[in-house]
Amino acid sequence: MNITFVGTGYVGLVSGVMMSYLGHNVTCIDLDSSKIVRLKKKEPTIYEDSLEKYLKMGVDSNRLHFVDSYDQNLKHSDAVFVTVGTPSLSDGSADLSNIFSCVGSVLKHLKDDCVIVIKSTVPPGTCNNVESFIKQKGYKNKVASNPEFLREGTAIHDFINTDRIIIGGNDELTFGIMKNIYAPLTKKGIQMLETDLSTSELIKYASNSFLANKIAFINELSDLCQEIGCNINHLSEGIGMDKRIGNSFLKPGPGFGGSCFPKDILALQKLAQGVSSKFLILDAIINSNNNRPANLTRKVIGLLGGDVKEKKIAVFGLTYKANTDDLRCSPAINLIKELLSFGAKVVAYDPQGMKNISRYKELIKKVECKTTPQKAARGSDAIIIATEWNEFKVLDYKKIKTLMKTPFIFDFRNVLDKQQIEEMGFEYHCIGSKKMGNKNG
Ligand code: UGA
Repeated sequence: MNITFVGTGYVGLVSGVMMSYLGHNVTCIDLDSSKIVRLKKKEPTIYEDSLEKYLKMGVDSNRLHFVDSYDQNLKHSDAVFVTVGTPSLSDGSADLSNIFSCVGSVLKHLKDDCVIVIKSTVPPGTCNNVESFIKQKGYKNKVASNPEFLREGTAIHDFINTDRIIIGGNDELTFGIMKNIYAPLTKKGIQMLETDLSTSELIKYASNSFLANKIAFINELSDLCQEIGCNINHLSEGIGMDKRIGNSFLKPGPGFGGSCFPKDILALQKLAQGVSSKFLILDAIINSNNNRPANLTRKVIGLLGGDVKEKKIAVFGLTYKANTDDLRCSPAINLIKELLSFGAKVVAYDPQGMKNISRYKELIKKVECKTTPQKAARGSDAIIIATEWNEFKVLDYKKIKTLMKTPFIFDFRNVLDKQQIEEMGFEYHCIGSKKMGNKNG
């Protein structure tokens, strides 16, 4: 089938590349011509495992094209996937202006039976509004909702092995086109759920909020474990063994971040408030997660003697999770801001994220970025592991200890072996350990 993606951000690029891998003819449009120049040269514009390989395969097979205008290719499209950003407005609601301006721009180029597929995360009701907007403009095109469930860092794997495909629509023609598009995956046994437009849109918000809920829950439990001396890692394993609960998204840490969970949960809260649905659990998740960096910083300060003024803290990891270069809503960045507000000197290292710190104007001059973890650790009073990069699990900590001023490790991702690290002479504190709650514990 002929498919167009509008927007080559993270979702549009990965989905476009992988749709060409499934055998479709794909055109990706982005008005940012500098991106298109790079993509035509088979250069990924985002950091994502295996993307380069599939990008090359698509371009070389002549099934994947990149253009920087709403050109003639659109008239052959059976479906146009809208994959533009829906950032949060200052009140937490989703900014949908990109969606409407993109739909407005493509309409005049399309054949009547081309389906417009909204893949960007949008609040329930948006696709119905898009359908009305199309009618008002005098066009006949139908709308489908098809939320995405890709995780940064494992997006290629997630695309091919997704647990489900959700399609929202109003008519059989739309479902027929969507079924053909996803036939290569459904034939492999991947399940597809057909529903109405608004329910499909809500499934995306509900999924992300439920996962965020699991993380906030385990993080709160880690605080409790700390107080009463239980083992959070065993606790997480123990509850996750119950298939009804499941073992994923139960890793305690410095809080959830990224461009999706924090934004989507706020948008769901806004939606609920707008219809006087209390949905109190959302308030608790948001508060719990927002308070986490400050609470952890307070504990670090307590364990470092009550004051971090002029103390040098080496932060290992800046990205919101491992295997991405994305710093958006990263708990590591929030931890750094907290530490700086108490007068600490922050030195940081991240395998992929350091190039993006320039986006945080308030941090560029204050955070010293180093090219290796060893350089960051040199002369430091403590190390904080803020992101679970594999690299941090296998460092030579014996050597690192010799470089540090005082051998403190705060492992906020629980990635190191406590016994081994303590045997090296470190004072080691991880999430949910009694010592994090009580200096003498
Ligand atoms: C998330 C969802 O997992 C995807 O299904 C969805 O498509 C995507 O949002 C989106 O809406 O576009 P992503 O933000 O890439 O994907 O990252 P996750 O792997 O879900 O992690 C989110 C945050 O939760 C990270 O900060 C991570 O460190 C944290 N996390 C995750 C934990 O603290 N503990 C866990 O057990 C799991």
